[in-house]
Amino acid sequence: MQLQDILYSQGFGTRRVCAGLIQQGFVEVKAGGEPAYHPLVDAAADVDEDGLHLRVQGTEWPYHDKAYVLLHKPAGTECSQKPSTYPSIYTLLPAPLRQRPTKSAVQGVQAVGRLDQDTTGLLLLSDDGQFIHRMSSPKKHVPKVYQVTTKHPVDAAQVSKLLAGVVLDDDPKPVRAADCVIIDTHRLDLTLTEGKYHQVKRMLAAVGNRVEGLHRSSIGAMTLPMDLAPGQWRWLGEEDLQLLTRAV
Ligand code: URA
Repeated sequence: MQLQDILYSQGFGTRRVCAGLIQQGFVEVKAGGEPAYHPLVDAAADVDEDGLHLRVQGTEWPYHDKAYVLLHKPAGTECSQKPSTYPSIYTLLPAPLRQRPTKSAVQGVQAVGRLDQDTTGLLLLSDDGQFIHRMSSPKKHVPKVYQVTTKHPVDAAQVSKLLAGVVLDDDPKPVRAADCVIIDTHRLDLTLTEGKYHQVKRMLAAVGNRVEGLHRSSIGAMTLPMDLAPGQWRWLGEEDLQLLTRAV
């Protein structure tokens, strides 16, 4: 692929901007297997994407055909491109991830489902529509584990009801937890395979309790890495993707 097209595909701006960056000497490349970066000023140079690393204005950028990333969502952020009150989670990502060209009307990576502004934890983002659908469709039953801190003590009766199914106001069909484990008097781990609006909070309210804190610790076989602080993100590797998509 031509270097300017590669740069464009990674979200570094319009084709014209990308050609300009290259011609001005702001782009270095390190092809798969090469030990070091070297500048390339020919925007139309043919470059092999396999194992390619770019350095654009000093920032290293591994080439990814499709982007799959994991974010540790901090509290006080909204999963919307146009947030109403709190900063958007998208401001935590570098500009190229937000600008990657996609076939859909919306540009850049999109969150796989949404978490409330006060919920923390594991959030996946991608520009691969099929992946987003696979991971978020209720039909795929991808389990998501929520660590819930409650206002009132949790008891066995509440757990039984959550597992048997509770009715939420707008839907006559009961929703049930796939698993529910009491951790201590005010904490439980709740596993859901669907993602209705405020589902955990509404389920806990339906059994007479109240959510005081909510953290998503895993999606499918993927757990939030311990070393990823709130607000940090990282690329998902091939192994991560295999873990995530194995069962769906
Ligand atoms: N359920 C909720 O109530 N909130 C979330 O953010 C996620 C699941």
